[in-house]
Amino acid sequence: MNTDKKRLLTGLQSSGDLHIGNYFGALKPFLDIYQEYDSYLMIADYHALTSSRDPIQLRKNIFNVVKDYLAVGVDPNQAVIFRQSDNQDHTELGWVLNCMVTVPFLMQAHSYKDKVAKGLEPNAGLFTYPMLQAADITLYDIDVVPVGEDQRQHLEYTREAVGKFNRAYGAILKEPAEKILDVVGVVPGTDGAKMSKSYGNTIPLFGTKEVIEKAVMSIVTDSQGDKPEHVYAIHRLLKSEAELDSLYEEHKGRYGDLKKALAIDLEAFIAPMREKRDQITEADVQAVLLDGVTRAKTVSNQTLDRVRTAVGINL
Ligand code: ADP
Ligand code: TRP
Repeated sequence: MNTDKKRLLTGLQSSGDLHIGNYFGALKPFLDIYQEYDSYLMIADYHALTSSRDPIQLRKNIFNVVKDYLAVGVDPNQAVIFRQSDNQDHTELGWVLNCMVTVPFLMQAHSYKDKVAKGLEPNAGLFTYPMLQAADITLYDIDVVPVGEDQRQHLEYTREAVGKFNRAYGAILKEPAEKILDVVGVVPGTDGAKMSKSYGNTIPLFGTKEVIEKAVMSIVTDSQGDKPEHVYAIHRLLKSEAELDSLYEEHKGRYGDLKKALAIDLEAFIAPMREKRDQITEADVQAVLLDGVTRAKTVSNQTLDRVRTAVGINL
């Protein structure tokens, strides 16, 4: 790893089968920047346990999220890809940070309140979730954390815990900054609403040719004019405006032809990633994670050692 670079870490929770909205809204912005940093990509499986009660599904999700990131092109030599639960330093520092913050402070967390409002059990893991996240970040002396807007408060919580720790024990932990990702905006689904797995309107990122074609042919085109709005909005993610201008001029108003052209372009874009993903085995994932956690621990062990000495438990 190049130590002149700033350090970046992000945590991933599996969110089921990915769609092209996830790709352009989350994976691609990460791919665009991660090589500029000394990057850490962590599978947040202990965080997932705050809401999972299905061991088969959790195990599957862990493999899936690693496969997804490898298939879209994250190079495990250019990023430390590892699993939170493989490195006990996370739970240990999480405990220490829990001791820095108050119950009323944790009760203010939007994500906790939102999840409980949605009916999730308010278990103690869900409640202290932000301090485990703070540990994920501070163990690696992280400078920046690329996340969506919804995670901004977790970074504020991290800085608050770090501040309290450092005021008590000296400048031991680094305060991270968030980097809110530049996103493409909202990718529309086949019904024109935001593409989302909860709306059943997706174009799957690793779908077969037939699945992609079927999804594209079902895109609503009740808008008027030469450029069916949602077809064009998706096409625009794949091709330049100039390329599309001539294509849309040639097939002016013939929505079926324009959809066929979009399906061909999507297939050309997706096929290499799909084929790559099909080649990735569980053994490959295990090897990546083993190498990742070995590299991760060389950094986190040092931070934890500083922390243990600072608080007075290194005898
Ligand atoms: P979903 O809505 O399918 O459940 P998630 O909420 O799990 O997706 O989102 C995972 C990531 O993908 C987030 O960073 C989110 O901002 C991004 N994302 C999801 N849907 C879209 C979309 N339609 N357009 C752009 N980005 C999206
Ligand atoms: N809470 C984050 C999410 O739901 C996942 C996460 C866990 C994370 N640890 C992290 C993100 C550390 C950034 C940094 O998306």
